[in-house]
Amino acid sequence: MFDNKNSTEEKPLQVGLLFGGRSAEHEVSLMSARSVYSRVALKGVRWVPLAISQSGKWLNQEVSTKLITGEIDRIPQKFEEEHNSLLASVKKNLPSTIDLIFPLLHGPYGEDGKMQGFLQTLSIPFVGSKTAASAVAMDKSFAKNIFERHNIRQAKYFLLTAEDIKDKESIVKLEERLVKEIDIPCFVKPASLGSSIGISKVKELKELLPAIRLALEYDDRILIEEFIAGREIECSVLGDWQECEASKPGEIIPGHEFYDYEAKYFSNKTNLVTPAQLPAKIEQQIRELACRSFRLLYCDGLARVDFFVQENNEIYLNEINTLPGFTEKSMYTRMWEATGLSYEAVVEKLLKLAIKD
Ligand SMILES: Nc1ncnc2c1ncn2[C@@H]1O[C@H](COP(=O)(O)OP(=O)(O)O)[C@@H](O)[C@H]1O
Ligand SMILES: [Mg+2]
Repeated sequence: MFDNKNSTEEKPLQVGLLFGGRSAEHEVSLMSARSVYSRVALKGVRWVPLAISQSGKWLNQEVSTKLITGEIDRIPQKFEEEHNSLLASVKKNLPSTIDLIFPLLHGPYGEDGKMQGFLQTLSIPFVGSKTAASAVAMDKSFAKNIFERHNIRQAKYFLLTAEDIKDKESIVKLEERLVKEIDIPCFVKPASLGSSIGISKVKELKELLPAIRLALEYDDRILIEEFIAGREIECSVLGDWQECEASKPGEIIPGHEFYDYEAKYFSNKTNLVTPAQLPAKIEQQIRELACRSFRLLYCDGLARVDFFVQENNEIYLNEINTLPGFTEKSMYTRMWEATGLSYEAVVEKLLKLAIKD
């Protein structure tokens, strides 16, 4: 029974499932929403599918429902053209009867605080982190600064902009700095994106400039990071910044040079292991660190916290994702399942947390 003051049998809580959206993870978002919609039926809750097109337009109930049930695969072009502005589509298709929103949007315009700010402005409660936490977690440079201040171990890094490669002299200086502070191999990444887009592993100095130019196509601030040789271990967190719990960790074995875009979404060589085989003490440390990182950014609802664990069991924090993939095959929900919390129970807990706010 979904028991709260707002819902009764006659008047269920109307929960908008927001999906699709403007990021490269549009398709993943669609899969996340289909999973929630088809797998979770809670008494006292009515799902209201709310699809957003790749160009940001909000779609009507009929098309949103067809998309979420799989009756259609993608958004017909005419709906992109139906409204001359994005605002017009929101005005027409965001129902005023919505009590709560579960944003199942990943990446920019969904996970980065923009949607959260919009919903907070409209006073619509929603699942997940608020505006500031979402924005900070999305921007690796901001998040790293906070973690650094709290002595959480991370790869060494520095930040740069197009200014740092503007002429030969700057490039020589940059290369010297790299060799002195970080060395090669290193990772070059846009400060804020996701899905490994624009990320390169640089193994020789001659690959540095192309990697920087690629990352600069996606953001005007980029990070150069020390390469951490280690296992990729992740951990799911559920709760709010006052009180949260962490799942048993899981492990990603990419079967590629690193966990790149291809390995994330297309490769069948990627192996997701839940729970990860780890010494009990290391597992405990990872779970504590996951909760601590979640609280340090004042996250709410859910997050997946990603680590590298070296052979000598040194733990490095890589990043925190505030709206991770949410299909039944996604690490976030699988790690909870391995901890004894079903997919349905996770969704129910998230809705309850969002109502509490
Ligand atoms: N410092 C690093 N050392 C080793 N591997 C890294 C490092 N940074 C990133 N990677 C690899 O690149 C992948 C994507 O990087 P990540 O920082 O997680 O970006 P995204 O936000 O796009 O997921 C990681 O999952 C890992 O495989
Ligand atoms: Mg990542």
